[in-house]
Amino acid sequence: MHKPSQKISRLVATTAIAATVLAAQAPNVLAVTQPHPDQELNQEAVKKQLQVEGVEQLENGVKLNLSSDQNAFIRLFSEDMAKVSIIKEGEEEYFSEAISKKEWDTPSFDVSEEKGEITLTTDEITIKIKKEPFGVKFLDKAGNVINEDYMQNGSGYDGEKPYVYKKTTEDEAFYGFGEQSGLEVNQRGESIGMFNTDAYAYGTDTKYLYTSIPFFIGLKNEKAYGMFFDNTNRSYFEMASESDDYYYFYADDGTLNYYFMYGPEIEDVLDRYTELTGRMDKPAKWTLGLHQSKWEYSAEDIERVAETYREKEIPVDTMHFDIDYMDEYRVFTWSDKFGDEALHQKLDAMNFKKITINDPAVKKDPGYFMYDEGTANDYWAKNPDGSNFVGEVWPGESMFPDFSKEEVREWWASKHDILFDKGIDGVWNDMNEPAVFDGPYHTMPLDVTFGEGENKRTHEEYHNLYGHDEAEATYDAFEMYKPNERPFVLTRDMYAGSQRYAALWTGDNVSEWDHLEMSLPMNMNVGLSGVPFVGNDIGGFAGRPDAEMFARWIEVGAFLPFSRIHYDSDKKAEGKKQAQEPWAFGQEVEDISKKYIEMRYKLMPYLYNAFIDAAEQGTPVQQPLVYQFQDDENTYNVSDQFMFGKEMMLAPIVEEGQTERDVYLPEGETWVDYWTGEEFDGGQTITTEAQLDHLPIYVKKDSMIPTREVQQYTGEKPLENLVLDTYLNEKATYSFYEDDGATLDYKDGEYNVTDLEVKRKGKHIEFKKKEKATGYDTDLESYTLKLNGEEAPKRVRAAKAKYKEVSSVEEVKSTQESFFYDNEEQALYVNVPADEKHKVKIFFNGKKDKAGKSDKKK
Ligand code: GLC
Repeated sequence: MHKPSQKISRLVATTAIAATVLAAQAPNVLAVTQPHPDQELNQEAVKKQLQVEGVEQLENGVKLNLSSDQNAFIRLFSEDMAKVSIIKEGEEEYFSEAISKKEWDTPSFDVSEEKGEITLTTDEITIKIKKEPFGVKFLDKAGNVINEDYMQNGSGYDGEKPYVYKKTTEDEAFYGFGEQSGLEVNQRGESIGMFNTDAYAYGTDTKYLYTSIPFFIGLKNEKAYGMFFDNTNRSYFEMASESDDYYYFYADDGTLNYYFMYGPEIEDVLDRYTELTGRMDKPAKWTLGLHQSKWEYSAEDIERVAETYREKEIPVDTMHFDIDYMDEYRVFTWSDKFGDEALHQKLDAMNFKKITINDPAVKKDPGYFMYDEGTANDYWAKNPDGSNFVGEVWPGESMFPDFSKEEVREWWASKHDILFDKGIDGVWNDMNEPAVFDGPYHTMPLDVTFGEGENKRTHEEYHNLYGHDEAEATYDAFEMYKPNERPFVLTRDMYAGSQRYAALWTGDNVSEWDHLEMSLPMNMNVGLSGVPFVGNDIGGFAGRPDAEMFARWIEVGAFLPFSRIHYDSDKKAEGKKQAQEPWAFGQEVEDISKKYIEMRYKLMPYLYNAFIDAAEQGTPVQQPLVYQFQDDENTYNVSDQFMFGKEMMLAPIVEEGQTERDVYLPEGETWVDYWTGEEFDGGQTITTEAQLDHLPIYVKKDSMIPTREVQQYTGEKPLENLVLDTYLNEKATYSFYEDDGATLDYKDGEYNVTDLEVKRKGKHIEFKKKEKATGYDTDLESYTLKLNGEEAPKRVRAAKAKYKEVSSVEEVKSTQESFFYDNEEQALYVNVPADEKHKVKIFFNGKKDKAGKSDKKK
């Protein structure tokens, strides 16, 4: 079980809201949302062990003949990744839809056999396979065991259930597993289940949520490995929940196959895992702006809210259209008011982007084109007797597209012109568990079928893939109709690999403090599961926050990879009409919201670059401290702080009434308080004050953070001046990526990469840059190097050019070859033309010591 919540009373209250609400739509939602209780393994069955009876060398590994007519295949996909499959004689090795790269160049490796053990060795790992009983052990180059089977039970099948037992020790930590409830980032001790579930108003101990990503990272002795159990059936992970000596994972059905990948850095594990399952695309910049949404906004509300954002000059990019825009919930239709051209023109004129929700269920309604076409072409999921499955969702009795079929995905994609023709920019897929209100457990019976002939699968096997395939179909709609635009799909349900198609929001959370707290470890683990683009409904979806809670939530929300305020319909909020726009809680909270949303827009170049790393290497944007600091064991269990990109650490307040908190500063860095400039050595816990408007932020010393002027929406103004917010001790560098942030032209080389470097050299500071790629026609005219915590300079020059001193921040930003020293801020601003060919040298009066420490430290 998940750790029982401390906050039982709150949970009861939450459940009460949920129960009232759900009674109207689906009487049994809360009773059971899984088809059956967790199925445990038969302890006698798992004690029976497999023996190796024969060995055959393969081009990329070995095939082992095992007892009980089974074969094991151990294949090397790269020097540091192997796939282990155990299947019945004659069966084919399995690849699910998660896998985006099946063909790998076989690494060079040796095979040897001695003393009942077969050894495979690459340049990075050694795999030792014990023959009697069969067992697998992974070692690093130096011979350290990274991961090994727990030999009392090993691996195999208990009836239809594939299982794998692994040895662990008390000090091993576990991360990943996609979307998980609870307040801890480290999942050691947890009992985890994966079966995509419409978990309206879930709690901190809800076991089954919307998304299933059967991938995790083990970290022991500062070395990390990844483990991906590619099985789409309902699966279970007992992560040392029964004993400190072992963990195990298994599924209700399907084949036994898993990928082991060795780090030793977490970063390397994720890079490899996302090479296997795919990475998100470079996002369109507008998707990184703020989004605003509510279930039950009327057409007038959407217009009014959009106008208010612009009037109040609170930056925002996107308005969402929830289910009411449809004609009686018929997908791919518009109701009169929401489809009115005037509304769309107004939003377009205010430079808003627009996203519509889209549900898979198609109203059973002869005469409605979706129903007629889908029925004529036999596109629906089927009952075991071959008839079409019918279940209730928003439109009443509905049909469910069989997204496992390519022609259904194509058909679905082809309907998106109905949305795109109104200028819709992104699509939000919901209810794709699939949720079925009158289903036996809020979804379809397990014997419903998908596909035909050889490709026929039961809902039991296909369930966790339904949202994945719908996301693919939606993604394809962009290729079809907006071939040179970057797609934006938001989904509630994922399987491993869905990051190739969609961003994730974590469903119907609740306006409760522990939900705000839970969102941090939840997103961090999603990020460590290959899905960097993740967010939670800001302010909570179900229920309503008070002013304090909303203020604290927007402080976190402004730094979420996917940042959207979204809330439940008034009908369901038990009469509480409290709205959730930034201005709905009074002036103080409006000011706080504006301050942090503006900060997000100011940090847009930095955020966009963090997303470039995500697209290129699978790097999470919202990272747990352990991601960058796995050599510091004190970070392993830090669940309420996170790195926002590479350089900034946030320590938000997530508890009611709190105005101070402890902050752990990881070892190996000096940390600068972003607000005061005060410096702290890493490797210690400090206490900091945080009144309502204050979000504690710490920046690494020797870092450079690219920022820009605030815009009301991401494409408002060209980026002409990039401000390099720099915290210098000895040397700070940044590799700045730039492209149009909207099209796929970067694939034809239309992007720039500029390496920037600031270095302290005795008594002067040098700034230089090197253009590494220059394919994009940039608007950038100059850089403003902002050196925090420095003294006033004596002079600044580049080769023979003397930079002139000006008298304000505004002036320096608009005057090339100039500098300004802000006494109050103790910051030096230097404007360097983008085409400056020479090093820029900054000379001081010489009060600095060699180590570069300023004697003016605050
Ligand atoms: C589901 C979604 C929620 C949406 C609502 C109405 O509960 O999770 O975000 O607002 O349906 O479409």
